[in-house]
Amino acid sequence: MCTHKQNLQETRREARLDASLMLSGTRPEDNGFLPWNPAHDDWRDEMNLTRRTLMLAAATAPGLSRASASAPLSAPTSARLPDRESFPGGDVVYLDSGTMHPISPGARAALQTYMEHRSLDLGSRVKSGFDDDQVRKKFARLINADSDEVAFVQSTTAGENLILQALGLPEKGAHVVTDTLHFFGSFPAYEDLAKSGVEVTWLQQKEGRISIDDVERAVRKGTRLVALSLVSTFNGFQHDLRRVCEIAHAKGALVYADIVHAAGCIPVDVRESGVDFAACASYKWLMGDFGLGFLYVRKDRQANLRRPQSGYYQISEFKTHVYPLDTPGDSVADYVRSDSAQGLFAIGTFAHPCLALLNHSLDYIGTLGVGAIQAHATSLTDHLKSELPKLGYQLYTPAESKTPLVACVMKDARGRLSPRLDAAKVKITLSQNRFRVSVSVFNDMTDIDRLLSALGVQGTAA
Ligand SMILES: Cc1ncc(COP(=O)(O)O)c(C=O)c1O
Repeated sequence: MCTHKQNLQETRREARLDASLMLSGTRPEDNGFLPWNPAHDDWRDEMNLTRRTLMLAAATAPGLSRASASAPLSAPTSARLPDRESFPGGDVVYLDSGTMHPISPGARAALQTYMEHRSLDLGSRVKSGFDDDQVRKKFARLINADSDEVAFVQSTTAGENLILQALGLPEKGAHVVTDTLHFFGSFPAYEDLAKSGVEVTWLQQKEGRISIDDVERAVRKGTRLVALSLVSTFNGFQHDLRRVCEIAHAKGALVYADIVHAAGCIPVDVRESGVDFAACASYKWLMGDFGLGFLYVRKDRQANLRRPQSGYYQISEFKTHVYPLDTPGDSVADYVRSDSAQGLFAIGTFAHPCLALLNHSLDYIGTLGVGAIQAHATSLTDHLKSELPKLGYQLYTPAESKTPLVACVMKDARGRLSPRLDAAKVKITLSQNRFRVSVSVFNDMTDIDRLLSALGVQGTAA
């Protein structure tokens, strides 16, 4: 006869087993081939455990490493920086991480492990090396969110569009405020809203900044949304997000922040700022790749959002009534959606190779500390900001900016600077009438000097 205590021990043992399987990314019945996913099987029937219980079990199971969970978000020193070792380079000076960040050998090795896991010959023996929930948690920790406030999305733009839809936009007569330092790729989204009857207020940049007074003047009672880039891709201007949120919330408006040029390179604290929604991709400062991003949705805003799409990754409990040996029911299946950002915005499978990269790079970023990453970048960008004007270049990044981006306005920048930068093997962002330099953990002052000497005095370019 089983005592209550024995029952409890048995349940705990099973929970631990399941938790460790979950962390290894496989289920016993998957034979190690299928990435573990709650919707792929009817494990809840067997284990009589909810996903939440499993997560708790995972968090408390002995032997599971909590090291990354307690990794400091911002270290006071940058002793390890610049870190060339983690990003060994060739003879090109890469100052374009703001376009896409290089992938480190460490992340590549993590990807290789995952590829082996997915191959026919090795898959049954090699584990994926990551778990999707753990990666989501690592990102949540980076921005000081809870993991149930974070959903995987395909990209930053996907995240922004999902929020617009979840807010019921476009809606005739609704008022939205955005600005011209927001991602230019999002301009059409707001122009489209305007064409559909939404009143869109565009705040114009002045000397590379969006004035907080302009935000205050534009937001009014009835404004639905303020949409901005926390850090502008155009010139690295950074909004005072906390202040924007205070202004917006005082009038009943919500705030969406594109954090693709913030997460991983400057401290982002969604709690401290009070921001309602935020999104980013992985291929810039999170040091991952294309195809997977994150959407933050503040917990207390979730209940008031419309679910834009239905998808099985939203489901936390599932029981079918249509297959042989199923218990009969009144419908084809009973299911419960997760009370979380995933429950609102997840759809189906997503880019697992990216998870492998992120599992590595989020630990790397966490170990260095975002504060140290920012301090290192600023030591280089401060120098650039003081030297570029001496060479006659017109700086378009505010002097006070603490972001890793520095931009200058220059007519026909691409045409005039490409030849000399190509010859010097220096890579920056070159656009029609602007160039942008972005620095990361592996850059040092010799990179900056090589850029400055390749640029030379403005006006002497071909
Ligand atoms: C500020 C900003 N937001 C969004 C994007 C586009 O991101 P995604 O491709 O993830 O939608 C970019 C791309 O450069 C960007 O700089």
